[in-house]
Amino acid sequence: MKENEKILRDKLAQSQLGGGQTRIDKQHAKGKLTARERIHFLLDDGSFEELGALVTHRTKDFGMEKQKFYGDGVVTGYGTINGRQVCVFAQDFTVFGGALSETHAEKICKIMDMAMNIGVPLIGLNDSGGARIQEGVRSLGGYADIFHRNVMASGVIPQISAIMGPCAGGAVYSPAMTDFTLMVENSSYMFVTGPNVVKTVTNEEVTSEELGGALTHATKSGVTHLTAGNDIQCIDQIKRMIGYMPQNCEDTPVDLPYEMGDEIREVLESIVPENAQQPYDMRHVIKGIIDEESFFEIHKQYAENIVVGFARIAGKSIGIVANQPMSLAGVLDVDASKKAARFTRFCDCFNIPLLVLVDVPGFLPGTDQEWNGIITNGAKLLYALSEATVPKVTVITRKAYGGAYDVMNSKHIGADMNYAWPGAEIAVMGAKGASEIIFRKEIAAANDPAAKLVEKEQEYAALFANPYSAAERGFIDEVILPKNTRRKLIKAFTMLENKAVALPKKKHGNIPL
Ligand code: COA
Repeated sequence: MKENEKILRDKLAQSQLGGGQTRIDKQHAKGKLTARERIHFLLDDGSFEELGALVTHRTKDFGMEKQKFYGDGVVTGYGTINGRQVCVFAQDFTVFGGALSETHAEKICKIMDMAMNIGVPLIGLNDSGGARIQEGVRSLGGYADIFHRNVMASGVIPQISAIMGPCAGGAVYSPAMTDFTLMVENSSYMFVTGPNVVKTVTNEEVTSEELGGALTHATKSGVTHLTAGNDIQCIDQIKRMIGYMPQNCEDTPVDLPYEMGDEIREVLESIVPENAQQPYDMRHVIKGIIDEESFFEIHKQYAENIVVGFARIAGKSIGIVANQPMSLAGVLDVDASKKAARFTRFCDCFNIPLLVLVDVPGFLPGTDQEWNGIITNGAKLLYALSEATVPKVTVITRKAYGGAYDVMNSKHIGADMNYAWPGAEIAVMGAKGASEIIFRKEIAAANDPAAKLVEKEQEYAALFANPYSAAERGFIDEVILPKNTRRKLIKAFTMLENKAVALPKKKHGNIPL
């Protein structure tokens, strides 16, 4: 072997080892994969091309000039997932605990710029002790360089963050500004300030896991969209999710081949119970409508009264937003509105058509909701759906009451096709509540007020608890039998494929935040 080649090979071999075998063993002992192993499982075999494998930090303070590791704690490069190009960075916990130095940040920025320039998704695998303490403000500057790029890339290329170890302090804000965050259970956590600071400031005793573990962020804060049992599962979810997305905002998602059959789904006839007060699982409706096994649910454990996720219909990628009657009767509340608005905006950024399934009794009443800003937060969903220019199709399966009717992708806010099932009730409110208000005096004066209420309820229901009043006005394009829903939707989304709508010229809108 030539001397030059030997030098190169030695350096690259050293770089492959990151912080060394002992630290790699420690990483494995924690049940975690190394940065390189994660990239190996993420990308197609042999597709990874690394950039900056020989980068080292430039710090001389605290004897750092004697502690240099090739790669400086992050592996960056490009490769393919199922044949589609992506850019990736994976922080290497074996080098200074994956802490972010100036050069580490430069490597991430370089791959982010590359992803933007070539228009491909960016995947960040985070596992880091935060700012490289020995570098002080240089490290903080590095974070800000990344944050700025996250914002510039937002809506241009899909950005996905997996948290596969610590992610604390300022470090949390890069994932927070990407489109989707995934967390690995029991080995990752995210918080702005850790348990020790929390104890000092608020006197609360809390573990890292309770404060910012995967389950906490999946259920309480909604910071993470998905959780995974281990690194491999997390990576598999990224690979699956990316399949529904286009490469960038000027691209469209890849269609899977699909051969049309009769597309009638009898199962949809028996999901909604006769009794309008009885719950049912909207996921069964989703399953009955979409291609088999194609639902990829996002934010499953957060705001369970609304269901969002990607799916395919006749091979085409769509985003679904659906009220969930099984949880809180499917009401809209602060969290549900935020969850659905954020998902809607992602789909709109990336040309993914939207299907909205409606069974909503209204907004959740109460001081908690009002004081937490249901007005502003409910407006987020209204704004997001109004603003979206992708094909937007609605199916009302049962209730569409009050302001929530307007919000849930009504014709009035720009939906392209609005369908209702024959049992749909499109009204200001339920028949009982409405009768109690508008016939109050008549009911009070009756010999038998209870019987009178029932009579008035029936009168009101006959007039409004159906889809026909809305259909007569064209607010509903078609009342359809549940079993025909899939067929209708396939046709509607195909018809809408070339929809082009331009928003009025503006710098950007001002969504209520
Ligand atoms: N800067 C520089 N080096 C760091 C670092 C940081 N922010 N965080 C961790 N390291 C180094 C450690 O010195 C250690 O080095 P070594 O392998 O040479 O011994 C290595 O990374 C692993 O850290 P260790 O503490 O042994 O791992 P752990 O799994 O027990 O704990 C943390 C991980 C992240 C909880 C812990 O390292 C920590 O608290 N780090 C500091 C976090 C912080 O305050 N960051 C700055 C503000 S954002």
